[in-house]
Amino acid sequence: MKILMVCLGNICRSPLAQGIMEQKIHEYGLNWSVDSCGTGGWHSGELPDPRSTAEARKHGIDLNTQRARQFRSIDIDEFDLIFAMDRHNKRDILQFCNNEEESAKVKLIMDEVNEGKGIDVPDPYYGGPDGFQQVYNMLDEACEAIVKRYNQQ
Ligand code: 4NP
Repeated sequence: MKILMVCLGNICRSPLAQGIMEQKIHEYGLNWSVDSCGTGGWHSGELPDPRSTAEARKHGIDLNTQRARQFRSIDIDEFDLIFAMDRHNKRDILQFCNNEEESAKVKLIMDEVNEGKGIDVPDPYYGGPDGFQQVYNMLDEACEAIVKRYNQQ
């Protein structure tokens, strides 16, 4: 299983999602891989936001090997599951899909916890550190649900 986590800038939410999923892949001994990217390219090449790095470190997760990159249309072919952090990200990715099979790969990550509710992982970029803790908690729950659901298939 190849998983891609996608947000807007690839410096706050999706790097945290990647780090959490990497930790779970290791814990559960899965033969999966995970990457992340942003629909926008403004932060390409940058390290994750220090507030995401600090939140991850609290949970024993290192984000310092990650560098931001922008989503590319070839990602649709290369990944099996593409998780958007919010509905806007999902809509942007779906524009790159050419058929039903491709668009079926694209999912809103919180739908793994609350199916069909359309819950966004809030963008914490302009907020305080509490926002990052909330993002961590949401993504931890979602990644746990993803492991449980897709490991059985
Ligand atoms: P992210 O947060 O999408 O979770 O990485 C953002 C980071 C940067 C910007 C927006 C959102 N920005 O506008 O630069």
